[in-house]
Amino acid sequence: MPGIGIGTFGSDKYNAEQISAAVKGAVKAGYRLIDCAEVYGNEREIGRALGELFRDGTVKREDLFVVSKVWNDHHGEGEVKKACCNSLDALGLDFLDAYYIHWPFPNYHAPGCDGDSRNPDSKPFSKEEFLSVYRQCEELYREGKIRGIGVSNMTVSKLEAVLPECEIPPVLIEMELHPAFRQKELRALCKKHGIQPVGFCPLGSPSRPERDRTPEDLAAMEMPHIQKIAAAHGIHPAGVCLKWAAQSGAVPIPFSVKPAQYEANLAWLCSDPLTEEEMAEIDASPADCRLIKGQVFLWEGASDWREIWT
Ligand SMILES: NC(=O)c1ccc[n+]([C@@H]2O[C@H](COP(=O)([O-])OP(=O)(O)OC[C@H]3O[C@@H](n4cnc5c(N)ncnc54)[C@H](OP(=O)(O)O)[C@@H]3O)[C@@H](O)[C@H]2O)c1
Repeated sequence: MPGIGIGTFGSDKYNAEQISAAVKGAVKAGYRLIDCAEVYGNEREIGRALGELFRDGTVKREDLFVVSKVWNDHHGEGEVKKACCNSLDALGLDFLDAYYIHWPFPNYHAPGCDGDSRNPDSKPFSKEEFLSVYRQCEELYREGKIRGIGVSNMTVSKLEAVLPECEIPPVLIEMELHPAFRQKELRALCKKHGIQPVGFCPLGSPSRPERDRTPEDLAAMEMPHIQKIAAAHGIHPAGVCLKWAAQSGAVPIPFSVKPAQYEANLAWLCSDPLTEEEMAEIDASPADCRLIKGQVFLWEGASDWREIWT
């Protein structure tokens, strides 16, 4: 699996055409992992970019590692296969290198529901319902439509609850991961079970809408010790965040539509590593709070967003 990928969630800021142009540019620059999801609403445009890259000989299908994710409103019986086939059709591919369960909740993300309001259809995590989605992914694996199963937005207790029941173990886990939220216990559990961590929001997602942030959130790239380490290496703080993720054993998937940014993000992973002291300083920071709180998934009776993450 490639050591870095290009994210494709444009937030409210970037449209599908800009993102597909960035995917094309990023692959030409050397990226091989493309992190897609049906809910990002841009798989058809990305599929067109991939088709062009195959036709002009930049890469072959087997050179790429393309992943997608089933969204929360396609968790019913038979719906995971339909969602996966839709993604394959949009991306113009015969198989995905991995397919993630985007969130471990069989919930709707109700239209018009944003981070300030609860989704009236939300329910707490249910192992049985999660496993019914997982079984459908196992079927897709057996059919050859996906080459690996991924989980995402999981916690230690949820992963421990479901792992013994997985007939085909997950190979990847996407988790929020940056110097201001390091998920040490979850990464240790993944290591024990041979599940590769993939770090999303590796730069602290600076272009994410305000609704996902609370005033106590620290922007990873603005933390003084990250800026100090960046200055010592003569690089942007983004480079420190990416090196930290990679040296911690994760695969970061930074997003950018700007060639100067995505090219630099790739180059930094190949330049001098952070020292042991620098890694230790980042790991010792008291700031350790998630940015993506998932308030929208709060169910009736839940007191606040922390209940989602038990
Ligand atoms: N599984 C999940 O639930 C989940 C959740 C969130 C994200 N993801 C995936 O993870 C990917 C990355 O997360 P993200 O997009 O939220 O956040 P991110 O990668 O941490 O931040 C992206 C932003 O960082 C800035 N940036 C990128 N390179 C930079 C550089 N070299 N120097 C300075 N600024 C730079 C850009 O801001 P400007 O645009 O302002 O330049 C860009 O929009 C997503 O695109 C998506 O594929 C998955």
